[in-house]
Amino acid sequence: MATILAIETSCDETAAAVVCHRQVLSNVVASQIDLHSRYGGVVPELASREHLLTIGDIVQEALLKSQLAWTDIDAVATTCAPGLVGALLVGMSVGKTLSMVHQKPFLGAHHLEGHIYAAYLEHQDLQAPFLCLLVSGGHTSLIRVDGCGQYTLLGKTRDDAAGEAFDKVARLLELGYPGGPIIDRLAQQGNPKAFHLPEGNISLPEGGYHPYDASFSGLKTAVLRLVDRLKADGVDPLPLADIAASFQSAVVRALTKRAVRAAQDQNLPAIVLGGGVAANSGLRHSLSAMAADQGIKVYVPSLQFCTDNAAMVACAASDHFDRGHRSSLDLGVYSRLPLDKISTLY
Ligand code: KG4
Ligand code: ZN
Repeated sequence: MATILAIETSCDETAAAVVCHRQVLSNVVASQIDLHSRYGGVVPELASREHLLTIGDIVQEALLKSQLAWTDIDAVATTCAPGLVGALLVGMSVGKTLSMVHQKPFLGAHHLEGHIYAAYLEHQDLQAPFLCLLVSGGHTSLIRVDGCGQYTLLGKTRDDAAGEAFDKVARLLELGYPGGPIIDRLAQQGNPKAFHLPEGNISLPEGGYHPYDASFSGLKTAVLRLVDRLKADGVDPLPLADIAASFQSAVVRALTKRAVRAAQDQNLPAIVLGGGVAANSGLRHSLSAMAADQGIKVYVPSLQFCTDNAAMVACAASDHFDRGHRSSLDLGVYSRLPLDKISTLY
């Protein structure tokens, strides 16, 4: 069984981990939230610079905590897509250098495949095929997973990702960054039925709605209009907890309905939740309840493996390693790369 040291720097987390097959030996994450929060979002140039300052210590700490030496490591894996190009470049340069210095095979890794694989770290019984609801700051996708590298995109957001909607709504409510965890906490004190907000349906020319695609930018605009109306009516203070709960409930309904429907249509026995928004308490609860009603099993990673980390990247890379996949040291970084093009990395 392969032992992989993985590096992840695609956005605002500097992360390294050592994983032996699906067992996490170490998982170190340095978040840049404090650095970016004053700007209300990730500033790409600052992210790259911070990765550069932190990555050396993070990799060293990951190796130290794993209680292994370089001689025990079978390969180095590094996220090369998708993400912020400058941020990805830092991780890739370090990953390639370590692979050369220690003479280990190198594997480029796809960030979204990492999010899919996060569930394997704690659920030894999980087996493909399954449906993955992947919800992060940059992506919202329904993916049919038939095995390592075998992914079919069934549905997606047509505009904002779910996490982006959380972050934008939190900004317009002046709650801080990142919005997801703040809205999640606030929503627990509010009434989700206080305001009716749209679920992001996509109308089809022939009538009806697209079964799996969604739109979240209209929902964000609906919250903006609601806030404007409440202010115009002289409501002060704003019922922030009720707005947060109503917004979260609309996102959760939209995601849950589509995921359960896709799993049923595709005859898939399980749904795997992945990505930063998978940390959302409302989503975890609703999806588990609705899927259980339909006899569908739900696999939810623990919070530390939902948001960006390198253990999930190592886990995916170890499956590729076992299949004999290796990447060239000429491999570049890609801000976008559809999951069905993942074979181009090896
Ligand atoms: O997967 P991730 O760590 O980074 C990307 O690959 O994008 O996801 C970050 C996103 C952010 O938009 C953040 O607001 C959201 O995940 N998020 C949450 C929660 N925790 C993080 N969204 C809703 N509820 C949460 N508890
Ligand atoms: Zn992510």
